[in-house]
Amino acid sequence: MNPFVYNSPVRGHDFFNREASIQKILRETVTGKSQGNIWITGERQIGKTSLLRRIQSLNGTYNETVIPYGTDKKLQVAFIFTNVQGCLTEDDFFNLLSQALIEHFDLKYKKAKIAYKNFIGALTEVYEKHNHYTVFLIDEFDAFVETLAYEVSQTATSFLAKLSSLLQEVDEIDEGVKTFSCVFTANHDMKELLNANKIDSRGSGLIVEALTLKWFTHAQVKALVKRYLHGNEVHFTDKEIDLCYGATHGYPYFTQKMLSMMFEAKKVITDEREYQEVVRNEFAEMFKETMEDWGGENMPQRTLRKLRDLVSEMEIGKNLSRALFALIEGYIKAKVMVI
Ligand SMILES: Nc1ncnc2c1ncn2[C@@H]1O[C@H](COP(=O)(O)OP(=O)(O)OP(=O)(O)O)[C@@H](O)[C@H]1O
Ligand SMILES: [Mg+2]
Repeated sequence: MNPFVYNSPVRGHDFFNREASIQKILRETVTGKSQGNIWITGERQIGKTSLLRRIQSLNGTYNETVIPYGTDKKLQVAFIFTNVQGCLTEDDFFNLLSQALIEHFDLKYKKAKIAYKNFIGALTEVYEKHNHYTVFLIDEFDAFVETLAYEVSQTATSFLAKLSSLLQEVDEIDEGVKTFSCVFTANHDMKELLNANKIDSRGSGLIVEALTLKWFTHAQVKALVKRYLHGNEVHFTDKEIDLCYGATHGYPYFTQKMLSMMFEAKKVITDEREYQEVVRNEFAEMFKETMEDWGGENMPQRTLRKLRDLVSEMEIGKNLSRALFALIEGYIKAKVMVI
C-alpha cells in the first residue's frame, strides 16, 4: 500500500516533525511567563492545518495548568480549533468561536442576541464554571481579515482592535482577567497582510509572536521516508531521496506527492534511468498544473521567489522547464505591477 499522504491534513502517526514549533507555541501561549499569541505564517499546503489539529489532539492528555495574569486561579487548558475562512463578518467570527466553546464544553448558558456578548458569555462559563484557559487555534485567519477589509479597511482595523483588547483582558470577567490566547495561521505574515489591505497597524494592535513554518530539510525527508516505509516491501535508496529533494526542496505537500509518484513508478519501471526521467517529468507536469490551479495573485512575493528558485533547479526537459519558469515569473511581474 502507498503510505504517502497529500490530499488532506496529516494526522496521528503520519504527522511528522514540527516538535520545535509545537513547543514554541505552547511556551508562548501557556507554559511560558506570558500568555501570548502566535501568528503562524506558511505557504499553501505546508502543514498549517495539520499542525493546529496536532495541538488540538493534546486535549485530554495535556496536564500543564495556567495561572492567568491578574489572578491566582489555576486553570486547565483547552485547545479549540476553528477555521474562519468562511466567516464574512465580525459577528460570524464571534459566533463561530462561541459555538466551538459550546460544543467542546457542552455549555448550557443563556445565549445573548449580540454575537460579541454571546462570546463573552461563553468565555465566562468556561473560565468560572469549567476552570479552563482557552487556546483558540484559528485556521485561515488572513482569509477572514481580507474579507473584512475588502470593501472598507476600517472594518478590519476595528475588528482587530476589539480582538486585541480582549486578548489582553476580558473586562466583563472578574475585573479584567486574561482568559484566552490565539494561535492564528495565515499565508502572509502580519505586516504583509496589513499593508496589502491598507489596514492601519497602529489601530489594529494585535500583539503576536511570529512563527514561520519551514519546508523539510534533506535529513527530514530521509527520516520521513524511513518512517512511512517502515514494514513496507518498497524502499528508496539515498539516490532516490536526492531525486525527491532535488525536485521539491522539502516543500511538505510536494515532497509527499513526489514520494507517492516514485512509489507507484517503482512498481512498474525497472530501468533506473527511465524511472528517474519519468518521475521527474511527471512531477514537473503536476507541479505546473498545481501552480496554474493555485494562481499567483494570492501568493506572497516571498513564496513566489522561493518557487522560482525551486523551478530553476529542477532537472527536467527544456520545454517544460521554460514553461514553468515563465509561469512563475509572470506571477511575480503581475504582483510587482499591482504594488
Ligand atoms: N507534519 C507533516 N508531516 C507530514 N506531511 C505533512 C506535514 N504537514 C504537511 N504535510 C503535507 O502537506 C500537505 C498539506 O498539509 P495541510 O493541509 O496541513 O497544509 P495547510 O498549510 O493547512 O494547507 P492549506 O494552505 O491548503 O490550508 C499534507 O497533505 C501532507 O502531504
Ligand atoms: Mg489548511
